[in-house]
Amino acid sequence: MTKKIAVLPGDGIGSEIMEQAVRVLGALKLPLEISHAPVGGTAYDLHGHPLPPATLKLAQESSAVLFGAVGDWKYDKLPREHRPEQAILGLRKALGLFANFRPAILYPELANASSLKPEIVSGLDILILRELTGDIYFGSPRGVRVAPDGPFAGEREGFDTMRYAEPEIRRIAHLGFQAALKRQRRLCSVDKANVLETSQLWRDIVTEIGKEYPDVALSHMYVDNAAMQLVRAPRDFDVIVTGNLFGDILSDEASMLTGSIGMLPSASLNSSGQGLYETTHGSAPDIAGKGVANPLATILSAAMMLRYSLNEAAQADRIEQAVRKVLQQGLRTADIYEQGTTKVGTAAMGDAVLKALG
Ligand code: IPM
Ligand code: MG
Repeated sequence: MTKKIAVLPGDGIGSEIMEQAVRVLGALKLPLEISHAPVGGTAYDLHGHPLPPATLKLAQESSAVLFGAVGDWKYDKLPREHRPEQAILGLRKALGLFANFRPAILYPELANASSLKPEIVSGLDILILRELTGDIYFGSPRGVRVAPDGPFAGEREGFDTMRYAEPEIRRIAHLGFQAALKRQRRLCSVDKANVLETSQLWRDIVTEIGKEYPDVALSHMYVDNAAMQLVRAPRDFDVIVTGNLFGDILSDEASMLTGSIGMLPSASLNSSGQGLYETTHGSAPDIAGKGVANPLATILSAAMMLRYSLNEAAQADRIEQAVRKVLQQGLRTADIYEQGTTKVGTAAMGDAVLKALG
C-alpha cells in the first residue's frame, strides 16, 4: 500500500539537505507518495504563518513527516507566534508527538571530531528519550504581567509553568524501559527532584513503573549531575529518559560528544506510530545556498522514518550501511573534514550515498 510522506524542507540549508534525502528515498523504489510543503520562515514569507493550515493538514494526513530545519536571524524580531520555531512546536503538539528519540552515536571514523579524548568517547552509543509535548514548554499559565505579590510586586515579571500529568509520565517511562530492553538494559531517568515537585512526581512514577521491568537496571540522576556525567563518563549511559526542557539541553550536549551534529537524526512519535523525523542540527543560515552542508543527518532521519513509521527496517539498514560506507571511503563534508580525508559538498555526498546503496 502506498504510504504518504510529507516533506517539509524549511529554511536555511533545509532545502539542500532535504533534496539529497529525497533522492535516497527515491532510489529505494518503495511505494511512497512524497508531497512537499513550506514550513518555518519560508512559509511565513509565503503565507504569513510558519505552519500554514495546508502544511499542517498534509502532515496530519501523512504516515510520516520528514522535516529539514527552520529558523533565520531575520525572523528574530517577529512576535513569538510567527517565529519559525513555532512550526516545529505546533507540529509536535498537533500531532501529539510526545516521544522524541535522539540517539548520539560516535562513528569510529569520526572519533577525532569530538572535543573529548578518544578514550572517553570511543564506542559511544547513547539514546536520549525526551518527552516532547509537556513540561514548561507547553504548561499554562504563562505570560508577562505585573507581579501581583512577592518582593517585586508591581514590577513586570515573566512566568511559565512546569507541569506533568501522571499519564504523560507513564507513557514516556514505558517507552524508556522498552527502549532499554532492546539495548544494554540500563535506563537513567533524569530530573530535578531535589527542588521541583514536578520532578518528584516524575521520579515516583518512573520508580513504580520500573517494577514492571525487572530486567532493566533503573537509576535516577539530577539534571545538573547528568550534565556533568555526560562529559565525564558518557559511556556509562545507555538510555536516558527525561522531560522536555532537560531533554532539550542534554540532547544538545550529547550530540556534541560526537563532535558532529551534522550526523545526528531524531524521531518524534505519537501513540499511533506516526512520526516526525528531523536532524538535531539547525538551519545554519550562514552556509545556506553554498552547497556545503552535511546531508547525512537528514538521510539518516529518513532511515529512522523507514524503521519507526513505515515498517521498512531492512531499507533503513541499507541506508545506514551506505552512510557508514561513504565515511569509510573517507568522504567528508566541511563540518566533519579533517586532514587526510576528501572534502565534498552536499550533492556529492548525496551521490556517494546513492552509489553506496548498491
Ligand atoms: C530542538 C530545538 C527546539 C526545542 C526549538 C527550535 C523550539 O531546540 O528540537 O531541540 O527547543 O525543542
Ligand atoms: Mg534543542
